Amino acid sequence: MTQQYSITLLPGDGIGPEIITVAVDVLNSIGKKFDLEFKFTEALMGGAAIDATGDPLPAETLDICKKSDAVLFAAIGGYKWDNLPREKRPETGLLGLRAGLGLFANLRPATILPQLIDASSLKREVVEGVDIMVVRELTGGIYFGKPKGIAETETGDRRGFNTMVYDESEVDRIAKVAFEIAQKRNNRLCSVDKANVLDVSQLWRDRVNLMAEKYSNVELSHLYVDNAAMQLIRAPKQFDTIVTGNLFGDILSDAAAMLTGSIGMLPSASLGAVAPGVYEPVHGSAPDIAGEDKANPLAMVLSAAMMLRYSLDQPEAASKIEAAVQTVLDQGFRTGDIMSEGMELLGCKAMGEKLLAALEA
Ligand code: IPM
Ligand code: MG
Repeated sequence: MTQQYSITLLPGDGIGPEIITVAVDVLNSIGKKFDLEFKFTEALMGGAAIDATGDPLPAETLDICKKSDAVLFAAIGGYKWDNLPREKRPETGLLGLRAGLGLFANLRPATILPQLIDASSLKREVVEGVDIMVVRELTGGIYFGKPKGIAETETGDRRGFNTMVYDESEVDRIAKVAFEIAQKRNNRLCSVDKANVLDVSQLWRDRVNLMAEKYSNVELSHLYVDNAAMQLIRAPKQFDTIVTGNLFGDILSDAAAMLTGSIGMLPSASLGAVAPGVYEPVHGSAPDIAGEDKANPLAMVLSAAMMLRYSLDQPEAASKIEAAVQTVLDQGFRTGDIMSEGMELLGCKAMGEKLLAALEA
């Protein structure tokens, strides 16, 4: 019997619509092979939503997401909306989506593909074999902590402030996710904090240590975030699974992504306790190349594969898509961001066509 899934599409801004089109084509093609039927519903988010409704995350969009089996999200933001007040900015819509769906666990794999080693800015021997999973806490920490704001002090000086806060229960649930992921990988987990300075990090470390007692087969280590940033660039192969808070995870996951040559290759999953997961490329909306058919759709396509694996329980279909990505790279096809000598430069659409050909071969 055909298995049906309802998928919400959030194309968003910039290159978003171009890359999500490729992912939809890939899903439709894989659906035929595995007897899966995807019912796609498109909803507004980010700058596109601001232009149409004045709100970066209209209530209707959140509703549509909640009713679906999973959400594919491309990218948001662009110059046009950069100077709007914070509550009207595209980024606020994204934070609202994470909070609204309770997506506390953000999984950002940084795996170097052998075909792209030369696209990395680091030496081959440093990055060859890198395979890291960054588990970033996504609905807490300084991103959401209160009080926050900009206020005038008694002397008339203005003060900006945010609060980095974690409750035990928030640390526990992300630590649990991270330990379980580490168990499915190489049983090594590195928790990153700033416990030498921040109380919130001391609590984080204490709770992660406590959780470790339940996962005796996982080797746990701790690093301060500054050292972790350095180690990621110095010797990235020492890492397997990393767990960290929202802000540190934001920064470290970009650094980890770059080890692999291009942020244009990396997918991510944001998961909660109950609501549908959201799958999105780690890269942003790239307004500088939007509409020029130059974007790399592979991170978006790999995000669709992650969706099949984590939310829809279709690991074989996921593997097939991942294999197709490898095939097109093996065939020498590249978008601009991962281009190297002797390879064939393709646009976003053409890359999509090569993927379909690889899937159907
Ligand atoms: C990310 C982005 C977002 C974040 C922005 C766009 C709000 O950088 O997903 O990493 O800071 O979380
Ligand atoms: Mg970021």
